[in-house]
Amino acid sequence: MDDIKYLKDINNFHLYYVESIGSTNTFLKENYFKYPNNSILLAYKQTNGRGRYTRVWQSDDDYTFSILLKNKYHNEIIAPLAIVRGLKKYDIDTKIKWPNDIYYNNKKLSGILIEDIYLGSDYQASVIGIGINKYDKPEVFGIGINKDIPKEELIEAIMNEYNNLLQEEYHNYIKEYISYSNVINKIIIYQNKEYLVEGINERGHLLLNNNGIIKEISCDEINIKDALK
Ligand code: BTN
Repeated sequence: MDDIKYLKDINNFHLYYVESIGSTNTFLKENYFKYPNNSILLAYKQTNGRGRYTRVWQSDDDYTFSILLKNKYHNEIIAPLAIVRGLKKYDIDTKIKWPNDIYYNNKKLSGILIEDIYLGSDYQASVIGIGINKYDKPEVFGIGINKDIPKEELIEAIMNEYNNLLQEEYHNYIKEYISYSNVINKIIIYQNKEYLVEGINERGHLLLNNNGIIKEISCDEINIKDALK
């Protein structure tokens, strides 16, 4: 039985923790109706972590937590930006690999898995799962923060920024998000054609250029990891 305990409030958020769990995302997806809006679940150990595209998220002593929000926000923009801002407090300067992977010294430091829950066609909640490597993961070319920051402390720094961003204007923070992007001017393959990544627009979509013809694509349409040349 998962033993979930309440730890403390962080601004408008309620932080819960569990010593060990399969996946914080799976747990909140299955139990979202039992927990209040703005809950955070921190797992000190996660044994069956999931990534995007049904990938596995391996973690030993990483920062693994999920946020439960019962309203729709631009989480695909807010979550990576909150992580970048939170890490900056510890002098860890990171970049965002569109749409929402966090890179540090050109290696993946953190991944985000956003899952929306619907009952039929009725939106219920979103679960935003965040994994941040504590140590390097050479087997998957991952990098860690390699600093001894207590888990609750780093989560608090990130969630303070999440809280700030929920009160900021989209057109302001999307500019900040774009300023941290590391895919602009890279060549990618999309539908068997090479494109130059021109930029990211106000909607958070990627703008691709092939001989002057511009295509706009959303993150549902492309797996950037496989597409980058
Ligand atoms: C990715 O890069 O593919 C996303 C990885 C997301 C991992 C986090 S760890 C906490 C939360 N629980 C999960 O099972 N996955 C997310």
